[in-house]
Amino acid sequence: MIRLNSGEAIGYVQASVFAANGAALIAYELNSAFWGRDLARLAVELMLNELAQHYGVEHFLAQLKQTNARSRRLLERLGFAPTSAEAWPQFEAAADEMLMHRMPAEYSPDFKC
Ligand SMILES: CC(C)(COP(=O)(O)OP(=O)(O)OC[C@H]1O[C@@H](n2cnc3c(N)ncnc32)[C@H](O)[C@@H]1OP(=O)(O)O)[C@@H](O)C(=O)NCCC(=O)NCCS
Repeated sequence: MIRLNSGEAIGYVQASVFAANGAALIAYELNSAFWGRDLARLAVELMLNELAQHYGVEHFLAQLKQTNARSRRLLERLGFAPTSAEAWPQFEAAADEMLMHRMPAEYSPDFKC
């Protein structure tokens, strides 16, 4: 759950971890009243760090509609790049979806929140 300092819940991040290959499929949703403030970027970044440090995740994947430009921009800001669906057969992408990927090594070492 993503909460403001006031305690108000404004969204969530989630991850399905596939221990067999060190991959995690991530997702996120923020109340639109809070879009455009870098809050989603911060919340997803925190989750990625947690997954890498405590769950052994080495590959982060996100599945999104090709038309979801806001989600794509968020992922690109976080260092994700489009990847081939054939490389990740366990993540079935529909014809109108795309798959994006990032490795932990691509983290910014001086990340702070
Ligand atoms: C995807 C989603 C979480 C992205 O939220 P967001 O508010 O755009 O993301 P951020 O919090 O990172 O905000 C970044 C934007 O804030 C701007 N911004 C404002 N202040 C900023 C700051 N201090 N630092 C960085 N960016 C800032 C950025 O310029 C950026 O705008 P841009 O994308 O137009 O360039 C949101 O659109 C959402 O919940 N969508 C519905 C659910 C959904 O689609 N989920 C994904 C399914 S795959």
